[in-house]
Amino acid sequence: MSKQTIPGIERRRLYLVGGLCALGAGLGAARYVVTQPQPPAGHPLPVGFGDLAAGKLMTVEWHGRTVWILRRSADEIAALAGYESELTDPASLLSLQPEGCRNPHRSLRPEIFVAIGQCTHQGCPPVLRAGAGNRNEFLCPCHTSKFDLAGRVFRNGPAPANLVIPEYRLEGDSRVVIGEA
Ligand code: FES
Repeated sequence: MSKQTIPGIERRRLYLVGGLCALGAGLGAARYVVTQPQPPAGHPLPVGFGDLAAGKLMTVEWHGRTVWILRRSADEIAALAGYESELTDPASLLSLQPEGCRNPHRSLRPEIFVAIGQCTHQGCPPVLRAGAGNRNEFLCPCHTSKFDLAGRVFRNGPAPANLVIPEYRLEGDSRVVIGEA
């Protein structure tokens, strides 16, 4: 059985290109986080989501922005791991969210995901769809940036950072107050 190998110089070139791509994505995210205004706050908006089924997304308007509330299923929560190397900012170090949401599921409670439904590239509204390997994702139709169900952006699109998460708090199992920590 013959085995094809990449010559040393070619391999080094591939490593260099990969490293430069990763560096570019990192710099883009860093630039994003210092140039963007903080997410809006105040004018709290209470929203009931008691009848939102697992896997379903609802949208509300707040401060002129579209805010998503997604109830993730147990399978969707479990699927939020294992592909971190494909993400620009897997630990959300260079993205905008409240401190309590800087975790792998980017939320106060794993099953409830709240985010501003605007792409961090040029603000188009991404859509929820079935992605590769039957893993649901958000696709921005404008220039094909993709985000996982925690709003973490994949490297292979132009969006520089994860979706923005506003301040919010949860009241019991069926109500969120957007805009209030
Ligand atoms: Fe979403 Fe450009 S606005 S990819």
